[in-house]
Amino acid sequence: MSSAHYQALEPQTSDEDNEDIEQRRPKQQQHHHYHLRNHSGSTTTACSLATPVMARKGRRRCLLPLVGGVLFFIAFCYLTLSVDTRLALGLGGGSDDSDDEGSHNDLDRNNFRPLNETVHICSESYEDRRQFMQDKPNSEYGQLPVIYFVTPTYPRREQIPELTRLAHTLLHVPRLHWLVADDQQKCNDFIDTLLNRFGIPFTHMVSPMPAKFRFADPAPRGVANRRAALRWLRQHNLTNGVLYFGDDDNTYDLRLFSEIRKTQRVSMFPVGLIADYAISGPVVRKGKVVAFLDSWVAGRRWPVDMAGFAVSLEYMAQYPNVNMPYKPGYEEDLFLRSINVRMDEIEPRGNNCTEVLVWHTQTKSKKLGVVRLESKYLDDRSNLGALLRNLELMGVATITESESRTAQISKNGKAKPHSVILS
Ligand code: UGA
Ligand code: MN
Repeated sequence: MSSAHYQALEPQTSDEDNEDIEQRRPKQQQHHHYHLRNHSGSTTTACSLATPVMARKGRRRCLLPLVGGVLFFIAFCYLTLSVDTRLALGLGGGSDDSDDEGSHNDLDRNNFRPLNETVHICSESYEDRRQFMQDKPNSEYGQLPVIYFVTPTYPRREQIPELTRLAHTLLHVPRLHWLVADDQQKCNDFIDTLLNRFGIPFTHMVSPMPAKFRFADPAPRGVANRRAALRWLRQHNLTNGVLYFGDDDNTYDLRLFSEIRKTQRVSMFPVGLIADYAISGPVVRKGKVVAFLDSWVAGRRWPVDMAGFAVSLEYMAQYPNVNMPYKPGYEEDLFLRSINVRMDEIEPRGNNCTEVLVWHTQTKSKKLGVVRLESKYLDDRSNLGALLRNLELMGVATITESESRTAQISKNGKAKPHSVILS
């Protein structure tokens, strides 16, 4: 480059070489090429030549030493890179472990193309502006009404991950009591340990779905356990605070909690990702709820999702007949009818129901994992005994000695007999 002073980057029309590149590039990237211009205004290339033809030929000649230089540079880098670096880059070499042979050799060079993707930063911040509720003493929140967050849950392999994710949302919410109501007979000690570790005030209860509904299709999901939580609230004569039904698999925006805490009687707000419209929620005119948008009406006076409302306990206490029937699809409607909700009393939340503060996300459900391994290897010679026993306690996977195919344990890309690794 002849000059050290360059003007701003400017777009330049394609020449032959660029056209070649143009054809290979995806459409959306075909904008402009930028060439450095020197201050006299002429385009700067490695070898400047007078006519376009000369320039093309000359450029090819100039390319030869350039290509040679690049090859020399690559060879130099390869020889000087440490063995560890080469291994980390997947370039092989440097290992005397015979197991390693062939494992990387099959890999095509294309698997290791250089990292040359365009990095387009949209925005970033290096300032940590997070506000953890622990920054303030509990007393700062003492005056806030308590949110009773009722979570029906049930044993399946996603249960512990779901509760863990939800807990990490609730960890940010002051003055909250988490009612975790498990749809099963026995108390799961693992859930107790988990809940204790989070430090969120909680009540862990069990209340299984009555057997007669278990195989119904559709089944009244999460009803027995929500009913148990309603009983708990009544037994404790709670007339202060806010009730919210928060399923274990939804996604909650932290602003939801400040919104529902204001509830005087009944708050309502949109829930994202519900059914065909991907939304369900109130229609608001002049600050008042006048109707509902939901793709499944089915005669429901309150066609809302369980996550789309909150109720003040003071208000609910006036209705001793509060109930949630075992009627799939109608739980919300009949619950809201049992507390005599009136349309003109509903408090629209989330900026007059224009914002989505809760999402009806659903987790893909799968069967229990099955790991077949001889029990004699589940001792403390390796981590596997403790790890797999934990997974059993969490209801994620079962360990077996007979079912299914023997678990694969591999090293350097090759399956090994258990005895080789675990004895
Ligand atoms: C939708 C609504 O969002 C739920 O509030 C409603 O209870 C449910 O439909 C229904 O009426 O069936 P959806 O995502 O379809 O929710 O249902 P799930 O998330 O599978 O279940 C809702 C809640 O009940 C969850 O917290 C889940 O853990 C719990 N549940 C589910 C049980 O306690 N037992 C079960 O057998 C199934
Ligand atoms: Mn759900």
